[in-house]
Amino acid sequence: MTLMADYRDAYCRSLADPDGFWLPAAEAIDWVTPPTRAVDADHAPLYRWFPDGVLNTCYNALDRHVDSGRTALVYDSPVTGSKATFTYRELRDEVALFAGALAGLGVATGDRVIIYMPMVPRAVVAMLACARLGAIHSVVFGGFAPKELASRIDDAKPKVIVAASAGIEPTRVVEYKPIIDEALRLSEHQPDTVVITQRPQAVAEMGARDVDWDDLTATATPHDCVPVPATHPAYILYTSGTTGRPKGVVRDTGGHAVALAWSLKAIYDIGPGDVFWTASDVGWVVGHSYIVYAPLLAGATTVLYEGKPVGTPDAGAFWRVIAEHGVQALFTAPTAFRAIKRVDPDATELAKYDLSKFRTLFLAGERLDPETYHWATEKLGVPVIDHWWQTETGWPICANLRGLEPMPIKPGSPTVPVPGYDVRILDGVGAELPAGQEGAIAIKLPLPPGCLPTLWGDDQRYIDSYLSTYPGYYLTGDGGYVDEDGYVYVMGRTDDVINVAGHRLSTGAMEAVLAAHPAVAECAVIGVHDSLKGQLPRGFVVLKAGAEIDEQTLRDELVAAVRRDIGPVAAFRDISVVNGLPKTRSGKILRKTMRGIADGRDEPVPSTIEDAAVLDALRPILRT
Ligand code: COA
Ligand code: AMP
Repeated sequence: MTLMADYRDAYCRSLADPDGFWLPAAEAIDWVTPPTRAVDADHAPLYRWFPDGVLNTCYNALDRHVDSGRTALVYDSPVTGSKATFTYRELRDEVALFAGALAGLGVATGDRVIIYMPMVPRAVVAMLACARLGAIHSVVFGGFAPKELASRIDDAKPKVIVAASAGIEPTRVVEYKPIIDEALRLSEHQPDTVVITQRPQAVAEMGARDVDWDDLTATATPHDCVPVPATHPAYILYTSGTTGRPKGVVRDTGGHAVALAWSLKAIYDIGPGDVFWTASDVGWVVGHSYIVYAPLLAGATTVLYEGKPVGTPDAGAFWRVIAEHGVQALFTAPTAFRAIKRVDPDATELAKYDLSKFRTLFLAGERLDPETYHWATEKLGVPVIDHWWQTETGWPICANLRGLEPMPIKPGSPTVPVPGYDVRILDGVGAELPAGQEGAIAIKLPLPPGCLPTLWGDDQRYIDSYLSTYPGYYLTGDGGYVDEDGYVYVMGRTDDVINVAGHRLSTGAMEAVLAAHPAVAECAVIGVHDSLKGQLPRGFVVLKAGAEIDEQTLRDELVAAVRRDIGPVAAFRDISVVNGLPKTRSGKILRKTMRGIADGRDEPVPSTIEDAAVLDALRPILRT
């Protein structure tokens, strides 16, 4: 099969002449000072995009669309029974007012603001208000525990935290205020103010530095857009790495706006006035890029859904939202579809709704298993598009570019590298591997606009974590191969990052929690296959000699500790007490081998193993 001309031409041009490709793409953005250069290699391997451009992202996402009269955002919340619609003018006015309120609290360009909010319109308002001021937001997902929030507070050092009193899960109300108070007790850095949106489901008790959003905005005056250099950080989003310390992925302003605007048309085939729904959370990169920024930059309508695929109230919830709001494209994680399929395998709920406007389903965040792909394709009768990317890149690395040149779908592959991404498969020493051979997936530098320019406050950590393994390349952390047709296959992480229901988590962070227990001598956490969530963490602990604790009590304490220190999203419940962990002679735990056995593969015994008997003893436990 040969890839057709439009894609191939765009892809080759983007790599051969980045300026020639991205400067015209940048014309989709309204600049205060248009850039004259695209990529800036002066500080390689730290590249910057549009170094002489000046713009404001909020202006591009809101103000310039106000006269269109279109709907910017539809809020649909089955967990509270509420719905609301905002035109671009209404959303702009709310954002300008809240920007004025933040400015009144002393927030200025470059200051950080942490946003800890559920899927409510004010989360979007807070993000865009920061963008309006050139303040740097850092949204923290509501499912994270106080300790995780505290580590982000200490790293980002926010002037203000913007929060809601509660998030609503189908089975319980999660009070956010106690989580924030506890995080602030744990953190060294202290913000000046905490702004709280009170929700009737749990009204928070206010302390000395807390102010009510309503009171604050009652006396505020709207604020204009503050132009910033294209290289100014737009936001920080913390993500799990291999260690317990999250990485502060930085997004720049100009590259971000250009890349997202381009991607919405080229990949998702969504334009002004189209209705785009990303069922994720603003706490994840998918939410940043495709609930908030991309659809608004493009003048489309975005759907903000506060609910789940099942249970709010039933497995027809997604079809209802699509039908009710005229959604043309839905983007979610495969786990959401597995959840629907489990409850309603024949998709009987579908018959109740009119999905005639629905054109495409996009899935990402974890591997799309062929069974889910076939089920969704058969039931929905629209193209089901797998695409691969990560928090660091901020937009797809590989995709089937529906707006540029739709390509034949091969189940199991997110199709081809997106223009701008020079994807290579490398072996252990950095040599390129031929088609069909699996290796590390790397991207030759520079990364395209919109990808992380660095980690917050730590260029060296960025270089060490991503750019040092293969000089001149960005290491994705995923392994995979390319086939004869140029289709990429992503086979999974090569490090200790796991994906639980589309939530990215670090097994290293969980190990740190287990290791802190006084009875635990050593431990390992691996991700094992799960038919609903894709992966689930599984822990193995070795007790200290003489430790006096019964195994069930230990298990309960460890499960509670992970929930307390990392959060409920870790879904950590499975723990085995074992006599020993298999290690190499240099003392490294053989997690990859353990993972393979647990997933039912015939793992060879590594030649570097210290004591094969330890692995043999563990095999039956891993297989259960
Ligand atoms: N705030 C507080 N707690 C949260 C939360 C939030 N924003 N999001 C999830 N949690 C809690 C849940 O209540 C649950 O707690 P529990 O252990 O007390 O039951 C736990 O974290 C695990 O939640 P979740 O991962 O959502 O699993 P689930 O079993 O409740 O639901 C799915 C499974 C598949 C339905 C669900 O994961 C889902 O809707 N996924 C959609 C995909 C998605 O949004 N991915 C994000 C990246 S694209
Ligand atoms: P996150 O940073 O949370 O978006 O997680 C990124 C990781 O999720 C990637 O490095 C992959 O391991 C995995 N991932 C995301 N999308 C896909 C996909 N389409 N196929 C396979 N893995 C994926």
